[in-house]
Amino acid sequence: MQRIALIYGGESSEHSVSCVTALGVFTAIDSTKYEIIPIGITKTGRFVLEPVNQEWRLEDFPEVSEDSPELLLPLGGGELRMTSGISLGKIHLAFPVLHGPNGEDGSIQGLLQLCKIPYVGNGVMASALAMDKVQAKALFRDVGLEVASEQVITRDQWEESKSTCLARAKKILKPDAFVKPSRSGSSVGVSLVLKEKDLEAAIELALSHDQTAMVERRVLGREIECSVLEMPNGDLQVSKAGEILVTGRPFYDYEAKYLGAGAELVIPAKLSAKDSSALAKAAMAAFRALGCKGLARTDFFLTKKGWVITEVNTMPGFTPISMYPLLFEASGINYQELVEILIQNGFGEQELTEESAD
Ligand SMILES: Nc1ncnc2c1ncn2[C@@H]1O[C@H](COP(=O)(O)OP(=O)(O)O)[C@@H](O)[C@H]1O
Ligand SMILES: [Mg+2]
Repeated sequence: MQRIALIYGGESSEHSVSCVTALGVFTAIDSTKYEIIPIGITKTGRFVLEPVNQEWRLEDFPEVSEDSPELLLPLGGGELRMTSGISLGKIHLAFPVLHGPNGEDGSIQGLLQLCKIPYVGNGVMASALAMDKVQAKALFRDVGLEVASEQVITRDQWEESKSTCLARAKKILKPDAFVKPSRSGSSVGVSLVLKEKDLEAAIELALSHDQTAMVERRVLGREIECSVLEMPNGDLQVSKAGEILVTGRPFYDYEAKYLGAGAELVIPAKLSAKDSSALAKAAMAAFRALGCKGLARTDFFLTKKGWVITEVNTMPGFTPISMYPLLFEASGINYQELVEILIQNGFGEQELTEESAD
């Protein structure tokens, strides 16, 4: 039987979301075909053997226990072992369901490569690029996708001259601006700035999460996302679109995303045939621009002038009630099928790597 390591938890603010995803994936995986080794990453970053718990619910903020037995990943290849020396056997495929720093930014993918373990989903480069909004936007522009205008402020520039940075940021402030860390997620460190006097605090906040802040013009339009899946034959499939309707909050912030406060998902979004087909084209172009593999959720605004892309998520929310799987469910691919396709992709990538090494 093929042995799959389900890797979840992690140091990010989405630790609990990842635990709930792990439960969803664990339940959906065909246990007659695959043996699952559950690897939890604790909030302090330790890798432990942690069985998935059937009771985990997001509202209870589940966590990987620091008391679970620690694991040693096989650098250079070989078997997964407990620190006691007991072998858990060779891992044939890893299925990381981690979000944010060290999970979605290429780090875990690099580690798996060093351990010679093939994995599901995006590689080092695509993960790192998508995580960095400044880099990703440059690539989106290169392939002709519309993006909001921005000013980039690094911590060095800020420390050298706040007034010069603020003068640049001010140019973006019509009608309003979003200030965000270049590398973050879950809306952490993101502010909507309506008045010039609030720019400084917003930049300080963004720079407390990353060394680069982006001051970005507010896009006025409908917030719409779609999911992209790479089929085992390499074709890309784009799901129906979903719309985020934010009501009780200033924007789709952390509370709206995870605490169910003031945001509603409309699946599928009501779109004209012309808008739908332009969206599918743009989503595929974004996926390819970053060199994505396996899956990605692409996030847009539909404006009077057409689609504006905001970002690509290389490990989007993947609990059974997250946007990514729900959009595919509405498009005829259910959660179990999605998990199986991603696993097949992961094994397919391994074959390609082996062929190119021959
Ligand atoms: N330029 C923008 N115009 C309008 N809304 C924005 C803009 N940038 C961000 N937002 C709002 O803030 C939310 C979080 O920003 P985003 O860039 O997607 O960062 P994250 O990676 O944290 O999700 C978006 O879902 C959207 O509601
Ligand atoms: Mg986002």
